[in-house]
Amino acid sequence: MKLIYKIIIFIIATFVILSFIPFDRTNKLSEAEIIAPEEVKLILKRSCYDCHSYETKHPFYSYVFPVSILINHHISEGREELNFSEFESLTLNKQSSKFRSIVEQIEENEMPLFGYTLLHRDAILSPEEKETLITWAKSRGGDSEDDDN
Ligand code: HEC
Repeated sequence: MKLIYKIIIFIIATFVILSFIPFDRTNKLSEAEIIAPEEVKLILKRSCYDCHSYETKHPFYSYVFPVSILINHHISEGREELNFSEFESLTLNKQSSKFRSIVEQIEENEMPLFGYTLLHRDAILSPEEKETLITWAKSRGGDSEDDDN
């Protein structure tokens, strides 16, 4: 066998083996899920919940190395910053600061993450959906001037 084939087989085998790196993909029970109008909830579930809740859906490619590493990193980082599944257990100050941040992230088109929308075209927010989320977030403290704490 030519060396190049051996190398290719070696690389593929390595990726397959690395795909068995265990990640905890179980979804915890949500105890203080965000309270929001149905219309808002549907958008959040479609565009944000994979990274910002305990209701993550794991597509088959999320099991394949090195995508597995990247996706799991996004989920743990995303949940750490903002977890809609335990949102109502935050203090009101903290909630307001998260709502300000949501307004900001949506206005600046930072969320949902670009790489995610490449594969999840349906997660892209329409101008009307952005407006819906922004108006809602502002009504829940996202338009206050207080500093984060
Ligand atoms: C593919 C995963 C992913 C999706 C989908 C996603 N986010 Fe994020 N989000 C992240 C990650 C990772 C971070 C932290 C790093 C960063 O800011 O880039 C973050 C950070 C944030 C922050 C900052 C939190 C803070 O404390 O400042 C907000 C607000 C936010 N996301 C809102 C949203 C909203 C709203 C949606 C849906 C419209 C969304 N995200 C969709 C991964 C995601």
